[in-house]
Amino acid sequence: MYYADEVIEEVRLRNDIVDVISQYVKLQRKGNSYFGLCPFHNEKSPSFSVNRDKQMYYCFGCGAGGNLFTFLMEYENYSFPEAVQHLAQRGGVELPVMEESGEARARKNHMNSLMEIQKITAGYYYYQLKHEGGVRAREYLSGRGLSWETIHQFGLGYSGRAGNNLYRYLKNKGYADELLKDSGLFQADEKNGMYDKFWNRVIFPIADVQNRVIGFGGRVMGDGKPKYLNSPETKIFDKSRNLYGLNRARSSRKKNLIICEGYMDVIAMHQAGFTNAVASLGTALTAGHASLLRRYTQEVLMIYDSDQAGIKAALRGIPILRAAGLHARVADLSPYKDPDEFIKAQGAEEFQKRLDQAQNSFLFQIRMLEREFDLGDPQGKTDFYRAVAERLLEFTQDLERNNYIEAIAQQYHIEKEQLHKMVNTLALAGVQVQRPRQPVSAGSDRRTQPKEGAREKAQKLMLTWLVNHPGIFGQVRTYLKPEDFTTPLYQRVAQMLYEQQETEGRFTPARIWNQFQDPQEQKSAASLLNTSLPVDSAREQEKAFADTLLRILEDSLLKQRESLEPGDMKGLQENINREMELKKMKANREQLHISFE
Ligand code: GTP
Ligand code: MN
Repeated sequence: MYYADEVIEEVRLRNDIVDVISQYVKLQRKGNSYFGLCPFHNEKSPSFSVNRDKQMYYCFGCGAGGNLFTFLMEYENYSFPEAVQHLAQRGGVELPVMEESGEARARKNHMNSLMEIQKITAGYYYYQLKHEGGVRAREYLSGRGLSWETIHQFGLGYSGRAGNNLYRYLKNKGYADELLKDSGLFQADEKNGMYDKFWNRVIFPIADVQNRVIGFGGRVMGDGKPKYLNSPETKIFDKSRNLYGLNRARSSRKKNLIICEGYMDVIAMHQAGFTNAVASLGTALTAGHASLLRRYTQEVLMIYDSDQAGIKAALRGIPILRAAGLHARVADLSPYKDPDEFIKAQGAEEFQKRLDQAQNSFLFQIRMLEREFDLGDPQGKTDFYRAVAERLLEFTQDLERNNYIEAIAQQYHIEKEQLHKMVNTLALAGVQVQRPRQPVSAGSDRRTQPKEGAREKAQKLMLTWLVNHPGIFGQVRTYLKPEDFTTPLYQRVAQMLYEQQETEGRFTPARIWNQFQDPQEQKSAASLLNTSLPVDSAREQEKAFADTLLRILEDSLLKQRESLEPGDMKGLQENINREMELKKMKANREQLHISFE
């Protein structure tokens, strides 16, 4: 789906960012900006700012930032066209009817119908639970300690004993067999035709973060097999990108999210006040899950069953979470099997204690590693230390690595210096760290960018200055062309800014963000307008300006030279001329001073 730039701009102009964000975040005015608690990470004091003049938001805490569209994309998980549609409706803008191909339209209708069927089905099962036939299911659920309020909140239900009631119900509503087959709710064979997949089970509807039902889990009431049946993956149900309970947990406002394995565990935790619990959908943790979690939190508490399989699952999950930029800790509930059982036996307070004691995921990995070695044997001990040192290579920052070296040295009674030495020796020998691949899923690792280099920083700073002090544009353009911004993203921004200035005589930064539909780019672009240097005086700022300008020119020159074809004498001559000019500028730095007033 594609809307013309003018349409998008019209939609943006008809919605004020402060008004829209106020519906989600309590904002308070401070000078030119409005501040509130950031909805994208947990914090106690407001670092989330919304600027009416720029029509942008930016969080000084987590770096989330962008314009109205990006806000809704992040907050509501909308796609770009969905955000446009939502705001068009709000601002009373009539969108042109899309020239959709017949195929695209058919696909969309199909998806919408599948969603509709899941929703109707959830209502149907819920109704079954409440009425006569559901008495045993009600007893089962209350026998497991769930209050009616909890059952209602999670929309639990019951699938009756008849075997094809749901099928008949949906058929009566006019849905075709083809569609019903794709819903994942039915099975078919020659003899019986189509019949309900869930039969005589308590039902757990599974919702996406937008609260749309996308699938179901069903549990036998007792000891039958299989214990749980789950909807298969369908066009609308992707198990690797959804988490049970996240639709509720996302707004729990706790400082972390808890991830566990079972539906019942999530529900039991929520009922006990741990409203930040989610579960994977009967599959192992994936990079898709990790990036989904990363949208809502920085820290994940992992709870896996205390058995061997649970430990293995935790060990597999840790690098995936870490690769998404999440901090992880592992909680130990032994001797209890899972959160549901723990809370029943020990209560919420004891459970909280276990959460508080959850172990740092790296130290957990080391503790589990230890089990593989015989520390009573000198060789085993040496091997263990070496393995630990290898793991420590994973930390690229000295401070962090040293902190871990210290913690481990203390715990395992190793000389700190010795461990240091081992790590350094391995590093020098070029031992490679085994790093999981970064998740590459949609909108995923937006907060785990590589550290920016000095080159990017300089370009970024210059763009920030241009936007915040438009008065300097006249001077800057005499030194810098948009092409001198060598980082592709910044070059695009510079081009747009220059063009706006030249055709309209002013900057409209928020308009630029319409152009970036990739969340990663949006974030980088948004942070542009909020980069600052800790400079105290006008004098320092002017000096910083000269440094920054020279740096950009130097990089641009270098880049140009690198890209010269061999034998391009004209290009080379031009490059040399520019270099001479740059030398002169450096010699006369004081002439580069510029006034920011
Ligand atoms: P309760 O026995 O109801 O407390 O369930 P639990 O949540 O403790 O279950 P368990 O730890 O055995 O399983 C955790 C999760 O794995 C469940 O929530 C299901 O998603 C999934 N699961 C468990 N058993 C089965 C099964 O037999 N088949 C399938 N497909 N998934 C299962
Ligand atoms: Mn259980």
